[in-house]
Amino acid sequence: MSMHKRSRVIKRSLAVLLLCMLNAGIAAQGTLRLGQPVSEADLEDWDLIVMPDGTGLPEGAGNALLGRGVYEQQCASCHGLSGQGMAGVPALVGENNAAGEPLVRAVGNYWPSASTLFDYVRRAMPPTAPKSLSSQQVYQVVAYVLFLNDIISEEFELTHNNLSTIEMPNRDGFVDHSQVQ
Ligand code: HEC
Repeated sequence: MSMHKRSRVIKRSLAVLLLCMLNAGIAAQGTLRLGQPVSEADLEDWDLIVMPDGTGLPEGAGNALLGRGVYEQQCASCHGLSGQGMAGVPALVGENNAAGEPLVRAVGNYWPSASTLFDYVRRAMPPTAPKSLSSQQVYQVVAYVLFLNDIISEEFELTHNNLSTIEMPNRDGFVDHSQVQ
């Protein structure tokens, strides 16, 4: 076959292939399977975003006294009894050096807002059973982690109303609020 002839054959085959694809596309249009509409209940299970101003928090409350039990049962095996972390698992209580700079970045000395802690724990922890804790258990265990970091007292009742007002030690470490209009 001459070069010229061969390229004509290839062109024709391509045209036929394109036509087939077009036909298949048209045929498929009548039977597009786009799945089912997402129900509000399904969305609730995914729409777990909590903003620093507290938007998105579920109603609830909890303190560290009750959070200790949740922590010891659900978290301590990996993060250690006092939140020190272990191989492959981050510490939840950070250490600072003498100058106050973080040696180990963790919730207390690095995270700028408590909402992130709530959001993260509710969504992802424990990793073996994410989303298995009730809202109340999340408030309790978040209160306990804040207590371990010396941010609130053991009796402090953490609620959907006051979580956004918790002053995290590193709240100014990311954004210079004096520069934000
Ligand atoms: C089976 C082990 C395991 C258990 C149990 C567990 N965690 Fe974790 N946790 C991890 C690992 C591993 C990471 C790091 C995940 C990553 O970086 O993707 C993590 C990350 C975290 C972080 C983010 C830390 C950081 O600075 O990045 C927080 C907060 C946290 N866990 C809290 C909890 C709480 C609260 C519980 C109990 C309700 C819990 N975890 C139970 C293994 C565990």
